[in-house]
Amino acid sequence: MSQVAEIVPLRKVLVTGGAGYIGSHVIYTLQKTRRYKVISLDNGYNSHPDALSRVSALLRSELPADASEHDIESTEIETHNSDLTRRDEIRAVFEKYGKGGIWGVVHLAAHKAVGESVEIPLTYYENNVAGTLFLLQTMKEYECTRIIYSSSATVYGTPPTIPIPETTRLEADSPYGNTKVMSETIIHDLCCADSKWSAISLRYFNPAGAHPSGQIGEHPKGRPENLLPLLAHMGVGRVDAATLQVFGNDYPTPDGTCVRDYLHIIDLAEGHLSALEALNQDSKVFDTSGARFKAYNLGLGRGVSVFEIIAAMHKATGVEFKYEIVGRRRGDVPKLIADPTLAENELGFKATQELSVMCRDLWNFQSKNPDGYGEF
Ligand SMILES: NC(=O)c1ccc[n+]([C@@H]2O[C@H](COP(=O)([O-])OP(=O)(O)OC[C@H]3O[C@@H](n4cnc5c(N)ncnc54)[C@H](O)[C@@H]3O)[C@@H](O)[C@H]2O)c1
Repeated sequence: MSQVAEIVPLRKVLVTGGAGYIGSHVIYTLQKTRRYKVISLDNGYNSHPDALSRVSALLRSELPADASEHDIESTEIETHNSDLTRRDEIRAVFEKYGKGGIWGVVHLAAHKAVGESVEIPLTYYENNVAGTLFLLQTMKEYECTRIIYSSSATVYGTPPTIPIPETTRLEADSPYGNTKVMSETIIHDLCCADSKWSAISLRYFNPAGAHPSGQIGEHPKGRPENLLPLLAHMGVGRVDAATLQVFGNDYPTPDGTCVRDYLHIIDLAEGHLSALEALNQDSKVFDTSGARFKAYNLGLGRGVSVFEIIAAMHKATGVEFKYEIVGRRRGDVPKLIADPTLAENELGFKATQELSVMCRDLWNFQSKNPDGYGEF
């Protein structure tokens, strides 16, 4: 008797900010398992319309020649051009699938520039905190009570101990960081009030790199804020290479420059998969007597300095990066390194890819796509 493979229905997961840098890699990673069907909600504020068609094309290119209809369906992504600060637009997405129709949410959508948040705090609180509140209210209405929240190492501000465990007090030192602490608090309180909810907050350290195919990667609007994409843009001539500034070389670190914990974007995306699996009702990660809320650091657990990053990007690209040392930047702390053991012990997640791989994959994407996905 021939055996027919059992077709497991795909779990519908809503990814907010799905067309962004992290979102596109998370969607790729979820749909690649062929267990999840992603619905993306993004208002296009910081994303290119082509990002998700590239994800679909990449998924299709990885299918076997005899792919079934189920396999082909698993490469398609439903997209909604909707804004989280508009309740009616969120409701319209949930309404399409009905009560209980969406299994869970990965909530990534946010504004993320620390410096900008100092200039326009109300915009940040509205987008990141009110947007989260409206999303949670709509989820409640539509009986969707599982959420993965995109938090950040910025919630720790200037931490008292390195590496940083999750038990560290939350004391962000920018409006952006505050929006992350506030959103975590709201989600935590909701889980305390109602045992139907389960939530995991992922505190990312510094995601970097791109999918190794070079098909998807980071495509920031304007001049990149972060060092690695800035170097990649300098490498392809999108940003003037004479403008690289190193903010301080007199920190108490081995070479005097700031040290940060970088993890590969695909490792980070895998972390979301581990977290989603842990949201199941029978999950062991939640303490049965308390709220079903947990926060985990996602980092490599090792630090690299600004000079080490410049050297690694030089090796990956062959480009000689000239820089000038300027004064320290307000708010920069000498070292931020994750203690990643809780995620390893409880979620079974461990980032493994080294800085050289992040630089290689970043450069592969940038050199194949000097203008990213194109102007937007
Ligand atoms: N990239 C990092 O270094 C980093 C580090 C720590 C935490 N995070 C967090 O990870 C998440 C994703 O970051 P990213 O690097 O992918 O940023 P990104 O800007 O590439 O992606 C965010 C996406 O959210 C969308 N968005 C923003 N506001 C929206 C709204 N009101 N409604 C609908 N869509 C909206 C944007 O268009 C964008 O596509 C953010 O919450 C960010 O704070 C990022």
